[in-house]
Amino acid sequence: MTLLAAPAKTVVQPRLEITGGKRLSGEIKVNGAKNSALVLMAACLLTRETLRLRNVPRLTDIAAMGEILAALGVQVVRGGEIIDLDGDNITQAAPPYELVNTLRASFFCIGPLLARMGMAQVPLPGGCQIGSRPVVEHVRGLKALGAQVTIDHGVVTAVVPGRRRRLTGGQIHLDCPSVGATETLMMAAVLAEGETTIENAAQEPEVVDLANLLIAMGGRIRGAGTPSIVIDGVDQLHGADYAVIPDRIEAGTLLLAGAITRSDLLVTPVIPEHLKAVLTKLEDAGCHLQVEGKGLRIRADAVRAVDLRTQPFPGFPTDLQAPFMGLLATAQGTSMVVENIFENRLQHVAELQRMGASIRLQGNTACIEGVARLSGAPVQGTDLRASAAMVLAGLAAEGITSVMGLEFLDRGYAALEERLNGVGASIRRVVDPH
Ligand code: UD1
Repeated sequence: MTLLAAPAKTVVQPRLEITGGKRLSGEIKVNGAKNSALVLMAACLLTRETLRLRNVPRLTDIAAMGEILAALGVQVVRGGEIIDLDGDNITQAAPPYELVNTLRASFFCIGPLLARMGMAQVPLPGGCQIGSRPVVEHVRGLKALGAQVTIDHGVVTAVVPGRRRRLTGGQIHLDCPSVGATETLMMAAVLAEGETTIENAAQEPEVVDLANLLIAMGGRIRGAGTPSIVIDGVDQLHGADYAVIPDRIEAGTLLLAGAITRSDLLVTPVIPEHLKAVLTKLEDAGCHLQVEGKGLRIRADAVRAVDLRTQPFPGFPTDLQAPFMGLLATAQGTSMVVENIFENRLQHVAELQRMGASIRLQGNTACIEGVARLSGAPVQGTDLRASAAMVLAGLAAEGITSVMGLEFLDRGYAALEERLNGVGASIRRVVDPH
């Protein structure tokens, strides 16, 4: 008797199938900044009035943040790129674990909840694909503002002692210029009694965007965008109508799409000051950049090797390290890329190698010898920005590249394939082949 094995059921992951080698041309739109929108949404917890945010990107992370805020009692109304958040009836100071678990940015709730309610209980955000992501600085800062903070069984409980349950201003010196810690502490301090100084603060444009929103809500903040931020606590904040800045990381990714395909592409809107380090590297690599209206036109022909190291803003952003490496894999000459911010953010190297890239890795340094042509292959996006790097490499590669791991890509790039197809790319989303 012959035993016949049941035919194996093939599990096919959703993927993007990219036919490479097409030149891009025309104009491509940049959405609102995901990392800004997430923190700005949390700021609705600071007021009883409605906060209207415009230019909010349509992303799964934004929807998840909306659900978390709704679970706390915020009324969330979404219409296209506008979100209205009404925090008049906050009923909870503890977002549910199941929701928080899906989104690291949910930890942003701790600062405003503490400021408004005098207590907050938020599960510790875990590490993620790119590194351990500690929150030591957030906790140390909240303590400096008078909160009692305990961490038990993976949950951070923060309470403001005293009858009035109001945080008090304090002097905070961050050990490292953490973006998340700076934002959390700004939101906590804005309703505290007295003045708070945050030294060695993060200078990222998203920090400035948050400061501008808080100022529009009646907060008193100066120095955002420099290493020293001073916050004069106010008794209460009011609602606001505020537009999120354009996403500098998405803009950078799209400029790189133009560069890697040796195209002429207008990316808009772009705030060049938000991307200085990246634009300098693109120019060093031989790309031509020109401001055109609210956008930036990139023209690329021959691309040569450049070295770069990731640093806090205004240095080269870690979020564009993987996409830029995609470009360097096709450049003339040898480039060195050093990742200084996250300990596990070079996983795209192995995937780029599958596409014929010549890269040697030693510790946090990658040595990339440009090749004349990448070749299409099945590749896995291992985190959000690594996935973007795979898409870029696929645009330039010979043949077909299948990019899997779309759950990461979709967290940070809304309808990326549609927008790229609109300027001449050939990308097909395959969800179910049957
Ligand atoms: C934010 C961005 C993320 C970006 C990162 C760095 C959001 C939602 N995410 O993440 O896309 O890659 O900035 O630009 O805005 N650190 C500590 N102790 C702490 C906090 C951080 O040592 O308490 C270290 C981290 O391990 C890392 C560095 O500081 O090495 C930067 O982290 P941080 O700026 O906090 O990043 P996030 O705010 O999590």
